[in-house]
Parts: sequence; structure tokens; C-alpha cells
Amino acid sequence: MSAIYLRGQAVPRDVADAIAERAGRLRGFAARLVYFETVGSTNDVAERLAADGADHGTVVVAEAQEQGRGRMGRDWFSPPGAGLYVSVVLRPEPLVDAGHAVASFDPGSVMAAASLTLTAGVALAEALRFATGLAVDLKWPNDVVVDRRKLCGILAEASVSSGRLQHVVVGYGINLRPAAYPPDLGGRATSLEAELGRPVDAGQVLAESLACLAERLRELPAGGFPRILERWTQLSPSSRGAAVEVLEAGAWIPARTHGVDADGALLVQTAAGARRVIAGEVRWL
Ligand code: BTN
Repeated sequence: MSAIYLRGQAVPRDVADAIAERAGRLRGFAARLVYFETVGSTNDVAERLAADGADHGTVVVAEAQEQGRGRMGRDWFSPPGAGLYVSVVLRPEPLVDAGHAVASFDPGSVMAAASLTLTAGVALAEALRFATGLAVDLKWPNDVVVDRRKLCGILAEASVSSGRLQHVVVGYGINLRPAAYPPDLGGRATSLEAELGRPVDAGQVLAESLACLAERLRELPAGGFPRILERWTQLSPSSRGAAVEVLEAGAWIPARTHGVDADGALLVQTAAGARRVIAGEVRWL
């Protein structure tokens, strides 16, 4: 791994070691890792790197963010040392494997961005399970939760030009300690250490998340998205038969979840009929 200094700093030894231990699984993914103690938003740095031509698998990590953001224009509270703040540059080209027909996954299409987001959710849920033993679930579209309390959020931002996907920045924030979320979130958030009742090794969690992401992404070109979607569904019991509310034209509508379709959109049944939620907001009742 080569550390670069984009107003960043050297990668801490424990992080570098944890990543090196997984070289066989990473296969060049995370070969470039930019590390910050504090940054505005790792997604912004990764976006700048991607616009300048950074390779697939370039990673930006920060111990704190001053302008961390979440989905739907929300802030992502990112105080020092309380969470892991990570963004990864993904490019469509490496997801094509010349040896395989790419029937179900056109890597340059805009829908591929949704596939990449769900793939990232599966990878992160599996990584947190492997690294900590916690039985985490997924909540559509991509929150990693424990008993309905949020542990990790994912923000995927796509760059599209002339209707084709150029790159996607997948950013994720993992709560390591309770200080990672403001007290007013009350019972709706949790952290690895709060759940486990012991300290966690952030370097190991980071390296495992990158290794799982690299592995799951390598499944996509060989028609692997349906299998990833199946795994996503297994990891998301609340995507079937749960009472929820969906945000529709500014109003919360009661609904029942009915699985996801082949594109990863959430299917719900409302009093007014079936709905397909593509990029919306869903909350549990
Ligand atoms: C959400 O659940 O709303 C998504 C949260 C995503 C937060 C991460 S932290 C690293 C990356 N940088 C950001 O500014 N946001 C994402």
C-alpha cells in the first residue's frame, strides 16, 4: 500500500498492517489509501480524486469529519475517534470481466449505481459480522442496524455523464463508540462498542470492510448481482412483511414491505396500492 499526502497524513501502522494481512483478498483494491485525522467530508475528497482520474478502489479514511453528510441532505455527526469515516472510488470498467457475458449487469448504466450501493451494504454487513460477531441486519436501502438501531450508514454518490456512469463514491460511517451520534438520536442509533461491551480494533474493522467490499464487487461481472441481492434479502428480514411508513410527496404513508425487485427497489403495499420505492425514505412503525 502506498500512502499519499493529499494534505493527509501517513497511514497508522495498525491500519496498514490490518490491510496488508488481507492483501490476498483485496487484490490491489485499497492500494491507494489517503488518511486524515480530520477532513471536511471523505466523500468530497474521494470525489475530487475520482474526477482527477483516481483508480477503482482508491480509499479515503478520516478519524473525524467537519462536514460529514448523510442521505437526504442530512448531516453525519463525525466527532474525533468515535467512528470510522470511509469513502471508496468505484469505476465501472474493472467490473467488466472479459471472460463472462454481462447479461444482468451493465457496468456503465446508471442502474449499476444502485447495484453497487446494495453490494456495498451486503459487504459491510458481512464485514461487521465477521470482524465483531454481531448479528447485524440491513434496513432498506442500506443502513446496517442492530435490533433496529443504526450502526452504519452508506452514502453512494454517482457521477454520470451523457447518461453513462463515470464513477461512484461509496462513503460509509461506522459508529465505533456512543460518542459517534448525538444524544437526541436516543434509541435510534448504536455503536460497535455499546453492543459488544468491549473495545474494538478500528484498523481490523476498516480492513475487513474493504476486503469484503473488494470480494463482493468481484462477483458482479460474472452475473453475480442476483446472488448478492439474494444475500441482501437474507440480511434484511424487515424488507418483507414489516409495517413501515414511506415518504411520498412530502407525506408519510403507512405501508407493508414486500421484498425488493431485480433492481433493488423496495416494493411496498399501501392503502392506495403497490408502490416501488427507488430512492426514497422508509421508516419503521
Ligand atoms: C446515511 O445513513 O445517511 C449515510 C451516512 C454516510 C456517512 C459517511 S461517513 C463517510 C462518508 N463521508 C461523508 O460525508 N458521508 C459518508
